[in-house]
Amino acid sequence: MTTVLVLFHSVTGSTYRLAEAIAAGVDSVDGCAANLRRVPEIEGSSVIFGGNDMAESRAQFDHIPVAEIEDLIAHDGLAIGTPVYFGAQSSALRYFLDQAGKYWMEGALTGIPATAFAGAGSGAGREAALMSLWSTFAVFGLTIVPLGTRAQNETPSDQVTGTTPFGAATISGGEGERPSAAELAAARIQGQALAEISLKLKAD
Ligand SMILES: Cc1cc2nc3c(=O)[nH]c(=O)nc-3n(C[C@H](O)[C@H](O)[C@H](O)COP(=O)(O)O)c2cc1C
Repeated sequence: MTTVLVLFHSVTGSTYRLAEAIAAGVDSVDGCAANLRRVPEIEGSSVIFGGNDMAESRAQFDHIPVAEIEDLIAHDGLAIGTPVYFGAQSSALRYFLDQAGKYWMEGALTGIPATAFAGAGSGAGREAALMSLWSTFAVFGLTIVPLGTRAQNETPSDQVTGTTPFGAATISGGEGERPSAAELAAARIQGQALAEISLKLKAD
């Protein structure tokens, strides 16, 4: 079985919803299975969202196992999702990835296919946030998998969506149900593409 880690940090749930869609896309490929894992909060960091207790919103993904750093080298593909915080990845995800120094030095991550996705509010800086993950992917030696034009038919130009060629994203502060059906479809396509590439690279 080819396995894909779907790793996400989320507080209000939009990145989590994209992660679920990515995982569904992975699972739709024969011989591939997704493992959803969540990045824990940094201990004592209650400052975000004005210090409000976000326990209620986090309850929706409490059942997802917490990621261990070893998960990064135990899978054939990686999908990593972040909330957009000031145009970059969240500090909790950054803190988690900073623990991968040993794997970086050993070259243990070299070649593993990896893709990025993001939950944004207004959408401002979401591509920069995805590329902040790409920078880390490059230094790790991961094989970066963009969404590209794969979700073109699922991204109508008469609707506002967060979808980007760099990776799936949602504008969760937008009108209506978010992530929207189009944003979720793009995430699913991205998961499927990553799984297909992981399967092929594993066979080589
Ligand atoms: C500290 C902080 C910074 C943020 N910066 C941005 C930003 O630069 N651009 C944006 O679109 N949304 C920004 N937001 C909004 C979040 O991206 C939005 O709430 C998103 O839904 C978070 O993902 P989540 O629902 O998975 O927690 C910010 C939120 C916080 C708390």
